[in-house]
Amino acid sequence: MLKVSDITCEYQKNPIGLGTKKPRFSWIIESDMQNVIQMSYRLQVSLDEKFKNIIWDTGVINSSKSVHIEYDGPDLRSFRRYFYRVKIMDNYGQESVWSDIGYFETALMDTSEWKAKFITPESEDEGNLSKGKYLRHEFVLDGEIDFARIYATALGMYEIYINGKRVGDDLLTPGWTSYKKRLQYQTYDITDLLVKGVNAVGAIVGAGWYKGDLAGWIGRRNVYGSRTALLVQMLIRYTDGREQIIVTDETWKASDSPILYSEIYHGEIYDARLEQSGWNLPNFDDNSWYAVDVINWDMSTLIPQEGLPVRRQEFIKPISMIITPKGEKVIDFGQNLAGWVKFTVRGKCGDKVVLKHAEVLDSEGNFYTENLRSAKQRIEYILKGYDAETFEPHFTFQGFRYVKIEEYPGEPSIDDFAAVVIHSDMKRIGKFTCSNELLNQLYHNIVWGLKSNFIDVPTDCPQRDERLGWTGDAQVFIETSCFIMNTALFFRKWLHDLKVDQLKNGGVPFVIPDVLGGHLENDKLIRQDHSSSGWGDAAVICPWTIYQFYDDVNILKEQYGSMKSWIEYIRANARDGIIWDSGFHFGDWLALDAKEGSYLGATPNDLIATAFYAYSTEILAKTAKILGNLSDYEEYLNLHDKIVKAFQDEFFTPSGRLAVRTQTAHVLVLMFNLVPDKYRARTIQTLIDLIDENNGHLTTGFLGTPYICHVLSNNGKTKEAYSLLLKEDYPSWLYQVKKGATTVWEHWDGIKPDGTMWSADMNSFNHYAYGSIGSWLYREIVGLNVDPEAPGFKHIIIKPKPGGDLTYAEAEYLSAYGRIFVSWSIGGGDITIDVAIPPNTKAKIILPHASSEAIETIRGVNVHFENCNDGAEAEIGSGTYKFIYPLTKFLAIEN
Ligand code: BGC
Repeated sequence: MLKVSDITCEYQKNPIGLGTKKPRFSWIIESDMQNVIQMSYRLQVSLDEKFKNIIWDTGVINSSKSVHIEYDGPDLRSFRRYFYRVKIMDNYGQESVWSDIGYFETALMDTSEWKAKFITPESEDEGNLSKGKYLRHEFVLDGEIDFARIYATALGMYEIYINGKRVGDDLLTPGWTSYKKRLQYQTYDITDLLVKGVNAVGAIVGAGWYKGDLAGWIGRRNVYGSRTALLVQMLIRYTDGREQIIVTDETWKASDSPILYSEIYHGEIYDARLEQSGWNLPNFDDNSWYAVDVINWDMSTLIPQEGLPVRRQEFIKPISMIITPKGEKVIDFGQNLAGWVKFTVRGKCGDKVVLKHAEVLDSEGNFYTENLRSAKQRIEYILKGYDAETFEPHFTFQGFRYVKIEEYPGEPSIDDFAAVVIHSDMKRIGKFTCSNELLNQLYHNIVWGLKSNFIDVPTDCPQRDERLGWTGDAQVFIETSCFIMNTALFFRKWLHDLKVDQLKNGGVPFVIPDVLGGHLENDKLIRQDHSSSGWGDAAVICPWTIYQFYDDVNILKEQYGSMKSWIEYIRANARDGIIWDSGFHFGDWLALDAKEGSYLGATPNDLIATAFYAYSTEILAKTAKILGNLSDYEEYLNLHDKIVKAFQDEFFTPSGRLAVRTQTAHVLVLMFNLVPDKYRARTIQTLIDLIDENNGHLTTGFLGTPYICHVLSNNGKTKEAYSLLLKEDYPSWLYQVKKGATTVWEHWDGIKPDGTMWSADMNSFNHYAYGSIGSWLYREIVGLNVDPEAPGFKHIIIKPKPGGDLTYAEAEYLSAYGRIFVSWSIGGGDITIDVAIPPNTKAKIILPHASSEAIETIRGVNVHFENCNDGAEAEIGSGTYKFIYPLTKFLAIEN
């Protein structure tokens, strides 16, 4: 049996609203044979589902490529659905049947196709208001409808209704981009919502990121404009071939809505008494509604949806309702999360529900909101007084585990509340479990850090008055995120914003979309508008990581200019173009070796900045090579050599001591290969001494933490890496787990051992940065690694490193080629390793401390192990395998 399954176009199943001229196709192969490789494929794209009007037929292409095959047929036209299918041949001469038929659909391929105008329901002087406003319009359709689409966006956020029904289930649309340069529109299929005769379209528009409060500590507002607006273009194709378009224009009408206030940070006030029954249905009397204004907007900024829409993902029921010592009535959802509360309430007209949201209780068990700073996270609902009223807010979200009920008609019952978890609609692709329950909880917390902070842009945190796309945080966490969910489209969109917000001189803003640049003059700490080392490096590290995990060369092509100008920015600012010793940097942010009262770790900026400069330059050189730009390759390889040499001269003493005695300094030089070979052993030993001097604990901050365990286990110190990871007392990953954390904290001591809190000034309990240890769980504990030479897991490197007190560990990962599985377990004096490798890939498996003669292959054929430095290794093809070997040698070495 050979089968093509899971065909996708641009990572998606049957996407509609694509804007790319050359969409790419991928498929997964299923086979019951081992060692399967695709020998050839044939792909067809057709105008019809029966494949009578084929516009592109590749013919039989002899290639093993099954990921990202780029369309190369005639130009695609706007507003069209195209069908595609594929068949393949494998290395056993088997031919598959045609795959199921997939489709993709184009949106507007050209700006000139926009006939709609942006219309605003707000007057010039409403800049300080954050109301939700209604917009409506009626239109007549005079035939049988074959195809109907809506293309829509807003300045602000919008929801659309056709004949009373909500269009799509996307939330917080149009998402957050650098609006003045790139504004996404969404495409929805509305064929089934329209009728022959009179139809109504209604929309609600709110402030959102466009005009609402942002970056609370510097008080930004109306960042992109002061009036919300809507843009809608509907295309209706009748069965007789006629086309009709309906667009936003002067004829639409507007009104206030029950949403009196809605702000991302602050929550929503909704007065149900102001609902206008039938406002989004035909034949509603809108005489009292007012005319809209048309406003100008540069239509060339419009782009089809690039990222993945934010959607409702899970509903969580409360675990309890408690009365705090202060007498507050608080619902506990048992999980820190991002989203909102959905509730059903009964009461009289004018009764109120008021809810406040918090992440933690204080040491006395009272509701704690100080760490939210200016973010109010408050929901107020005023009842209209019917039987049961169910409410969910519209243009806001909250970061919370606890909800305080400040007002409520009668006695609330927890059965009437649920937490709605929202995030970008990424596919979950990775799972990890092991025998240590605390570690499993840490992994759970890492996953929830991702869920809570991948809400259209990668944010630092989802609760306080920040929630910004901090580049440094994204950079340190991206690899872990790629193991857990498919984040390719999510990061692609964000990186495109990074590129357009990058400064002319190549500098990279601290947050993307950039809402801080030019507004930091009164900031207590930050001394410039952009370009901190370790933060700006997101421009290089993020595209590279996406390329590695998903074999997506396009991301490198698209970002190459941005990557290069970041390196050139550093070169222009570095002493002699080599040692970057100037400017403001966040450094090893929040490291525990910081001076009392400071956020900046003890590792000097020039060491960190030059180390990252070397690392990013090396990535740029590799990228240039992949893109076939050999002169740049030479250039940056050369530059890299020079930086490394100068780094060594500057920071190593002639006898091989690293002049900066901090954990992070040692971690970075080892991780980025800045240590002269002859000093490597000494450097590792000093790192271990530094950990010992700190009682076996880490002192690292944002930049050292992601790498510390990798550096240890890659240099023969797996035992020490485990010991660091499995520490349960402060400071450590498991300390917070033992303190009851359900997400990852911003500070190692967010809650101190005595129960008191780190300063409310900056104390998020949902910051993913330290969750970057997640990649170590996959890559080292289980040993699942992408081979940098064959990205996207086309060639997998499997190198488990059992250790600590773990008796088993396993990971599953849905790669572009299919499911990879690795597990190991220890028992009965043996280690058992189970592996599954998907068709069309190969793997190198390295079994630690094994002798080739002693390995028994229980499942899987033709495996020939050879002894190597680390144990025994073999090259294996697709299929499932089980190996067993005795533990003796392992125990002798690890203990
Ligand atoms: C954010 C961080 C960010 C940092 C920059 C903080 O306020 O929450 O996570 O990277 O500022 O230093």
